[in-house]
Amino acid sequence: MKRLVLALLITSSTTAFAQTKVSKKEMKALVKESLDFSARQYKGMMTAVPDSLFPRSTNKDGSMMTAKYNWWTAGFYPGSCWYLFEATGDPAFRAEAEKRQENLLPNQYRTNTHDLGFLMYCSFGNDLRLTKDTAARSILLTSSASLIKRYKPSIQAIRSWDHAGWKCPVIIDNMMNLEMLMWAARESKDPNFARIAVEHANTTLKNHFREDYSSYHVIDYDTATGQVFAKKTHQGHSDASAWSRGQAWGLYGYTMMYRETKDRTYLDQARHIADYMLNHPNMPADLVPYYDYDAPEIPNAIRDASAAAVMSSALLELSRYVDKAESKRYWNAGADALVSLSSDAYRAKEGANNHFILMHSTGSVPGKSELEVPLSYADYYYLEALLRYQKWGGR
Ligand code: GLY
Repeated sequence: MKRLVLALLITSSTTAFAQTKVSKKEMKALVKESLDFSARQYKGMMTAVPDSLFPRSTNKDGSMMTAKYNWWTAGFYPGSCWYLFEATGDPAFRAEAEKRQENLLPNQYRTNTHDLGFLMYCSFGNDLRLTKDTAARSILLTSSASLIKRYKPSIQAIRSWDHAGWKCPVIIDNMMNLEMLMWAARESKDPNFARIAVEHANTTLKNHFREDYSSYHVIDYDTATGQVFAKKTHQGHSDASAWSRGQAWGLYGYTMMYRETKDRTYLDQARHIADYMLNHPNMPADLVPYYDYDAPEIPNAIRDASAAAVMSSALLELSRYVDKAESKRYWNAGADALVSLSSDAYRAKEGANNHFILMHSTGSVPGKSELEVPLSYADYYYLEALLRYQKWGGR
């Protein structure tokens, strides 16, 4: 009932930037209740997915969409189980994470994907953080060595896709894979991992961003010259538009790179991206973005709860690195997005939604796939944001 009242407070109005409408005490209770709900929901997930597969989304016929070990999102389910183990201490979540991530092991040797951070760091990285498991450490170092094989010296970036139709594409999403490399540099004492991550972040900063700090989705490079060949989109409305999840990946990526390097250029970039989002006239009052900030169907465009979850988690972290007034603004926005996601408008009913936690995420509008559905990474970053709120909310 209380959750419903909070939900009514945060939907409907049209102001571009919401202030926290929930007291700290209410917020803490909401976060705890949301983690408890998520744990119950994922207990149902455990038995719904065949052992060899990973939950991905919902099919058009309403059944669960699953993924094989090599799909880019496969690491999020074990990662979410690690977060739920952290939240609840329930050993069933640890056992489930350990069982499922076994299937991810062949990925550590792959050099045909840039998604190794998503696949391996969200799973084995959380394992290592929570259990200090030495096997996880070794798997992550192998994964990092595989990932840097995709580094292109002429571009000073890690190649994203190998699909036909591109010369050498680098997508903004690839910022997310750098966290594993920064960890690998620290852990192995091999500075090469960090050098590549920093060069990739610098190249992305130079070529992916527009004057208003929105980002292109894909920069296609000419490997012979290292020059930009084309600036395109793959999942956004148009080449010139701001695909919402891409903006969130950028925000998260530069916040993380500031944490890892203490280079203020990255902090400033993250602040500019955050301000672009939070000041955008098309940012809905509930802080759950439309799938693209420039979608022509706005206000009838579909939303992307996954973009809100990534943004929320990143804003909560960013708030820790800036001065008091800015900190409050970012923290409140991160918390407000969490309140929205925890409301009945976005959070599933218990036992429904194929056991995913959140509804209304969007994979690819141009690809006509995964429209207004649950997505495993929306759940992962939502859980991460809830835990971040719980950990840092006492400030
Ligand atoms: N990395 C792909 C996506 O965000 O959809």
